[in-house]
Amino acid sequence: MRVAGQNYQTIWLDRENSKVFFIDQALLPFEFSIRSTSHHEDLINAIKTMQVRGAPVIGITGALALLLGMSLDSSDVNLNNLSQEIIKARPTAVNLAWAVNSMNGEIQKIPQERRLDFAWNYAEKLIQNDIQCNHQIGVHGGQLIIDNNYNNILTHCNAGWLATVDHGTALSPIFEAFKNNQNIHVWVDETRPRNQGLLTCWELMNEKIPYTLIVDNAGGLLMMEKKVDVVIVGADRISINGHVCNKIGTYLKALAAKANNIPFYVAAPSSTIDINFKDEINFDIENRTTDEILKINGLDENKQLSIISFSEFNAHNPAFDITPNHLISGIITEKGIFKPETLKTVYA
Ligand code: MRU
Repeated sequence: MRVAGQNYQTIWLDRENSKVFFIDQALLPFEFSIRSTSHHEDLINAIKTMQVRGAPVIGITGALALLLGMSLDSSDVNLNNLSQEIIKARPTAVNLAWAVNSMNGEIQKIPQERRLDFAWNYAEKLIQNDIQCNHQIGVHGGQLIIDNNYNNILTHCNAGWLATVDHGTALSPIFEAFKNNQNIHVWVDETRPRNQGLLTCWELMNEKIPYTLIVDNAGGLLMMEKKVDVVIVGADRISINGHVCNKIGTYLKALAAKANNIPFYVAAPSSTIDINFKDEINFDIENRTTDEILKINGLDENKQLSIISFSEFNAHNPAFDITPNHLISGIITEKGIFKPETLKTVYA
């Protein structure tokens, strides 16, 4: 997608120089900065510190960490150890384990002397697959928006192109429908504590799509006032029976949508569906540092990055919540749009 009119992916390979390039999201929307590295530790750290964030691109970054980490030792033992280390970087988004395990599994089928070459090709294949899947989500979801003439769309967190290699998940249908001349305005939840909503605003601004930033608690009132036609969010993990784990606050939006008879859709690639996750409570919700609540990044009046700090109050910072399937109108994947309870007929 575009930044100041120029096309970017969030992450890409420089095979000639054995490097990975990525956009540093920890600095956005204040500063647009690109990093490069040849070291797998840097990519693991980028996942932990959310320089790279969003379930699909966390997965791709994990796979690229494996690629860089195996360059000196491509033995099965090293591949398995590295995979374990990478998967631990962030626990909730299943895309990380999916991408790392699939890369590791495929590499181990290849004789050791050809493994590195294979891994570069496979990594590029994963990148292209992510781009295509998310584009297809846009095609299906964009048609849904156009067919129902949805104009005012509410979204939570950032499930835009920054959360993927390109196109995004929840924002992909919005980009696609807008390209096809649908009249669109997006209500963007701020998404405390990390304010990923600012990333969504930044993306929409770059694509010249009308949007309005709102505080997380405004959605219910807007729905009651009939100012929201549909809610579309992303996902970090989806159970096979259609329960959705996504950024904290998603569940409250789904409850408000149900109470106001507003359709609530989840958009995610198939790699977000966890066929081992069968009910809504048995998986790992990441608790992040309470600094994220007690300190806020922003620009001061001189446009310098600065941190505003609250007192050292007690705090608790779960990063995700779970929306039960009965609150969800449909799940948009690259394969189509499914009722949550029918997901298992396609994916089990
Ligand atoms: O903590 P983050 O920013 O990595 O959270 C993940 C997400 O971006 C969201 O939960 C998003 O809605 C799903 S990922 C496209």
